[in-house]
Amino acid sequence: MYNPLENIDLHKPEPIILGIESSCDETAAAVIKGRKILSDEIASSASLQAEYGGVVPELASRAHTDEVAKVVERAVKNAGITYADIDAVAVTYGAGLLGALLVGVSFAKAFAYALNKPLIAVNHIRGHLAAAYLDSPDLQPPFVTLLASGGHTAILYAKSESEFEILGATLDDAAGEAFDKVARVLGLKYPGGPHIERTAQEGEANVPMPKMLKGGGGYNFSYSGLKTAVINYCHTKDQKGESYSKADVAASFQSAAVDVLVEKTVAAAKEKGVATVTVGGGVAANGYLRSSLQSACKKAGLRLILPEKRYCTDNAAMIASEGLVQYRLGNFAKMDLTAKASIPLAATLETVQSRAAKSEK
Ligand code: KG4
Ligand code: ZN
Repeated sequence: MYNPLENIDLHKPEPIILGIESSCDETAAAVIKGRKILSDEIASSASLQAEYGGVVPELASRAHTDEVAKVVERAVKNAGITYADIDAVAVTYGAGLLGALLVGVSFAKAFAYALNKPLIAVNHIRGHLAAAYLDSPDLQPPFVTLLASGGHTAILYAKSESEFEILGATLDDAAGEAFDKVARVLGLKYPGGPHIERTAQEGEANVPMPKMLKGGGGYNFSYSGLKTAVINYCHTKDQKGESYSKADVAASFQSAAVDVLVEKTVAAAKEKGVATVTVGGGVAANGYLRSSLQSACKKAGLRLILPEKRYCTDNAAMIASEGLVQYRLGNFAKMDLTAKASIPLAATLETVQSRAAKSEK
């Protein structure tokens, strides 16, 4: 019988958590002990997807099915532990591609069931936020977080490890989405962000870009106007048969997209009176964003927690890290857990479940 909570110790000093992530094109598994990473495995189908200019959901699901058991086995082996040592299994249950998520969720359920281990359902976005705890194990809320990924862009105020207030968010496209769309217009490969960054290094930010709600719009962002401006600039040049520098366009776009993130994050930290800023999400791997934020935080006297690039983009260590937060709260999932393509930005399974219960009444 599946009865994993019988002897659980929620106060165990350093629980060992296995994290599993399969929301997009990375199949990942990692083991943490407390806030220390013991192993971290990723199998990516990004190069396969690059041929199609984006993620093909069916291909991603198949690749996850091929890889999930292998990455989990490698993660456990490289952590130097046995299956019996695992205290809980944390898995991304949303948001993401439904078919891709289902592979990780189904595997995690079977794995937890077979070993009689507690199961934890992790919101992918909360995972990105929790990556900061692995970078700096002494980190304690309150702090302000900049989240910039392919699906979300927001500034959050972390009141505690589990409670977030959304100070501002994108009104339309996410920052990563804008990087990917602009990359496509410039004929660069998927995923666009790293290619824009590389191309921008050869250019100057001298192409006029629209204003990015700087100083206005509170802590909200809008990326769709910027994206359209770049597309129009390139198309007009093409139609007139005029040449233009892709590197200059990339550099101009990058600085417009990033400067507003940096400015608003620092302003939010000052307004909230926190001493620390953290970042998460794939766009936080951008070198220009990292160096701009470093100098802005230094100038403002703020401590900046900047997780290594590989912990900004999708990985399973961050899922295990958020798993640890939920473990401490005793927020475990049941065997009827299923994947969800979309969930509210900072929700946990518990908040989603209690909202569903309310709406059923
Ligand atoms: O967090 P992530 O790996 O997946 C999501 O949860 O969305 O973020 C992926 C996004 C993509 O849009 C990708 O182009 C962007 O992060 N990205 C970057 C860089 N590396 C990844 N954007 C700008 N510069 C980068 N170096
Ligand atoms: Zn992500």
